[in-house]
Amino acid sequence: MNQKNLTAGLALGLSSVLTLGLAALPGMGQTPHPAPSAMHTSSTDLENWWKNAVIYEIYPRSFQDSNGDGIGDLNGITSRLDYLQKLGVEAIWLSPIYPSPQVDFGYDISDYEGIDPQYGTMADFDRLVAEAKKRDIRIVMDMVMNHSSDKHAWFEESRSSRKNPKRNWYVWKDGKGETATSKGEPPNNWQSDFGHSAWEWDEKTRQYYYHKFYIQQPDFNWNNPEVEKAFDGILKFWMNKGVAGFRFDAITTLFEDPNWIDDKELLDKDGKTYLNDYGDVSLDDARTNNLPEVNRVVEHVRKVEDSVKPNVFPGRRVMIGETYVPTIKDLLAMYGTTDKPEFQLPMDTQVGFINKLDVATFRSKLNDVETKIDGNIPLLVFDNHDNARIDARYGDGVHDTAITRVISTMLFASRGSALFYNGAEIGMKTTPPTRKEDVKDPVGLTGWPKNKGRDGERTPMQWDDSTYAGFSTAAPWLPVPSNKDTINVKSEEADPDSLLNWYESLIRLKKTNPVFIHGENVMLDTENTKVLSWLRKEPGKQAVVVSVNFTAEPQTVNLGATSASETPGHHAKTLLKSPGVADPESLENVQLPPFGVYIGEVE
Ligand code: NOJ
Repeated sequence: MNQKNLTAGLALGLSSVLTLGLAALPGMGQTPHPAPSAMHTSSTDLENWWKNAVIYEIYPRSFQDSNGDGIGDLNGITSRLDYLQKLGVEAIWLSPIYPSPQVDFGYDISDYEGIDPQYGTMADFDRLVAEAKKRDIRIVMDMVMNHSSDKHAWFEESRSSRKNPKRNWYVWKDGKGETATSKGEPPNNWQSDFGHSAWEWDEKTRQYYYHKFYIQQPDFNWNNPEVEKAFDGILKFWMNKGVAGFRFDAITTLFEDPNWIDDKELLDKDGKTYLNDYGDVSLDDARTNNLPEVNRVVEHVRKVEDSVKPNVFPGRRVMIGETYVPTIKDLLAMYGTTDKPEFQLPMDTQVGFINKLDVATFRSKLNDVETKIDGNIPLLVFDNHDNARIDARYGDGVHDTAITRVISTMLFASRGSALFYNGAEIGMKTTPPTRKEDVKDPVGLTGWPKNKGRDGERTPMQWDDSTYAGFSTAAPWLPVPSNKDTINVKSEEADPDSLLNWYESLIRLKKTNPVFIHGENVMLDTENTKVLSWLRKEPGKQAVVVSVNFTAEPQTVNLGATSASETPGHHAKTLLKSPGVADPESLENVQLPPFGVYIGEVE
């Protein structure tokens, strides 16, 4: 899905376990793994576990099937926890597993305090939390507060009569020009992010209800305090079950402009209106997205989260926001203030979804999130279940693995927490359906052929090269891409130069090198348009240089100490490098092959 269309869009105190001899990593090199527990939270800084964390998104339907029905499930996830622990994952964001008609594959929830039988039982969930805890992995739930399923009992009550006490839990309006015999026109021109009008006529009670997403996803009325109270209860329910936090779905769209005025038409460069992927006139969505009232709710939810004592994991729970916001200022607002804190980790979608390997843009956006968020913790993210995978947005079809090393270096070698999507670590490729009749995501059905929907990034996890890639014993709900023969966990585990081993090494570096834990990011060689270089530095710690070639040609950079450079030395000890990179004799002469990466500790 096009990110534009989707409005709705972890510091360990490791002092005791640091410096695990990452120096001589051959090729891109692998050193023996530290005992996994050594990579995790020390007892000294549990409170801040989320400040330099490695968070992994699991799309449960596609991760691992345990009962042979072709659909991933909770027991499947539990069976893969050892893999995640070895990779260095500290928290799993679970896309929704609640009971749901699955119109939007779980983002249409019909019971906020249950488990969909397709994914297992509450006992399976409890076992997942307990087994994850044994491996120091936290579970973060997806929380969808913007809308429910139209099959949720609350909506069924709401639509039963205008007088029903739940009527005002959702957004109902009269049509324009409605008469006893005609429904008139929708209240205004607002559009659903998933195509066409955001208003759906309900014949029984003769009013329109508002849905930012599918027709089957009616929006809650967040001006009604009863809605807020209901969600307080839901959040407490899951916190008491041991979850370590929530990722708040579509959080920026909780409110609508109370004047109900039309959205404005967008104009192209010739000043003309134009059609979007769904064939609708393109509109801005300023009246239904990122309204200031959102911050009040987030601030309230933070208080609720902070009020419940942790019971499974010590330390703070984390609030992650799906915050596709247009500017760094808007992102800053999502953190709240010291007195009125909001999200600890609103996702930064400005870096990860640049969608073009452009050095200057990355330098500027990474610099923004380092310098313009008041010392808060950035949460970088480059992929998820709504956007084409890295290959389709950054790849060139020839160097995709090397390009993914480039992207993952920005993700894991920058200050802050890192969020990545299952399958990225093995380089899974976007595989959209080729025929409309195979499409599962309704976005693809409405948008075909311009927008083929999100199936392409939701194909089953490729564990091995067997018929169903080790995902299931039955034909999976989405087909397994034929590249599973080479792109799979088993074969990459066996290859020291694989992307999977690169991810493991980078994550280990992020978690164990002292300056990677909190050190600031300072851009180096800032006029260079081919190579992005930066320094991680912190008083009293050895600085580290990171240099990434964004081009398909070899490049040489000078990162040595000069009066204009922040680099405190002329030589570096290699910590990690991609295949084909030689140890530089000096920082004045770092040579990088196409899309090469060099990371070294300044001496
Ligand atoms: C964002 C979720 O990531 C996406 O999958 C979903 O369709 C929309 N929000 C609506 O809940």
